[in-house]
Amino acid sequence: MTRIFSGIKPSGHLTLGNYLGALRQWVAAEQEPHDALFCVVDLHALTVDHDPARVRRLSRQAATLFLASGLDPLKCTLFVQSHVDEHTRLSYLLECTATDGELRRMIQYKEKAARARAAGDGVRLSLLTYPVLMAADILAYDAAEVPVGEDQRQHVELARDLAVRFNLRYGHTFTVPQVVLPTVAARVMDLQDPAAKMGKSHENGAGIVYLLDEPAVITKKVMRAVTDSGDGGVVYDRAARPGVANLLDILSACTGAEPAALADRYSGYGALKRDVAEAVVEVLRPVQERHAELAADPGGVERVLRAGAERARGLARPVVDRAYRNIGLLEP
Ligand code: TYM
Repeated sequence: MTRIFSGIKPSGHLTLGNYLGALRQWVAAEQEPHDALFCVVDLHALTVDHDPARVRRLSRQAATLFLASGLDPLKCTLFVQSHVDEHTRLSYLLECTATDGELRRMIQYKEKAARARAAGDGVRLSLLTYPVLMAADILAYDAAEVPVGEDQRQHVELARDLAVRFNLRYGHTFTVPQVVLPTVAARVMDLQDPAAKMGKSHENGAGIVYLLDEPAVITKKVMRAVTDSGDGGVVYDRAARPGVANLLDILSACTGAEPAALADRYSGYGALKRDVAEAVVEVLRPVQERHAELAADPGGVERVLRAGAERARGLARPVVDRAYRNIGLLEP
C-alpha cells in the first residue's frame, strides 16, 4: 500500500488555498488504498514571530478542520508533529546532510527572511532549517507520495535530494518521496493581488477566503476581487488576465468544469463573480457545519490526535533508529 504524508502549518487560519490545494486532495487520496498520514506541523509555526496562545488555538482548529473536511481517522492517521519526537531527532541527521547554500536558495526562505528583516525582526535560524525539518517529516515515515500545492514543490524536491544523498553515503535508509500536485487549484491566488499566493499569513485578509468565513464575508471578498482591465470579455489567460483566470480556476475546482469552457459562459465579470461566490459558499458549507459540531466536543478531537500520534511514533521509530545506525552513531 502506498504510504503518503502531508501537513499544514498552523501559522494562521486555514484558507481556501489550503482546502482546494491540499485538504480536498487528501480526502480524495484517502478513498484509495493508501496508508495516509496527515499532520498539523506545529513546530513549523515557530519559525517566524509567533504568539504561543495563538499557535495552540490554531493547532487545535487545524486538526478540527482536518476532520471537518472529511478525513476519517479510521482510514488515515491524524496527528500533531510535536507529539512525535522522531521528527526533530531525524531533522538533526538531515542537517548533517544538507548544505547552507542549498537552504539559502529556497524561495520561501528568501521571501520570508526579507519580510522579517523589513519588519525589523531577526530571522530565526529555524526559518533557514525549516525545509530540513519538513524533509524529516516525510522521510521518517518512508512516505512514497507527498500531496501538496505548487508552492511546496521545491521543499519536497529538497527532501528527495537529501534522501538520495543519505542513501548513497550511508547505505539504503530512506524511501525517496515523490511530489503529487493537484490537477486543478495547485496555486490559488490572492483575490486582491493575483500575482501572490492566497496565503494564511498575509496581513491583509481582504483577498483571502478563510475556511471559517461566514457566507456573507466570502461573497463580499469574491465580489471585490481584483479583475483585469481590458475589454476582451471573460477569457482564460493566466499570464495576461491573472485575476480572472484565478476566479475561473476557483470555479473550476468547485464545479469540476474546465476553466476555459467556463469562460465561454460569461460575458461580464459580475455574473462570474456571483457564481464563484456561490460555488465557494456551497463547497465550504458542509465543512463549516461539521466544524461547528466537532468544535463542541474538543475531547473527541484530542482522542483522535492521541491515537494518531501513537501510531505515527510506532512507524517513525524504526526508520529513525535505522538512520541513526547507518550514519555512524552507537546503539544505546
Ligand atoms: P502550508 O501550511 O503553507 O500549506 C499547507 C498545504 O496547502 C497548500 N497551499 C495551497 N495550495 C494551493 N493554493 C494556495 N494558495 C495554497 N496555499 C497553501 C500547500 O501547498 C500545502 O500543501 N511546509 C508546508 C507544511 C509541511 C509539509 C510537511 C507538507 C511541513 N512538513 C511535509 C508536506 C509534507 C507548509 O508550510 O504548508
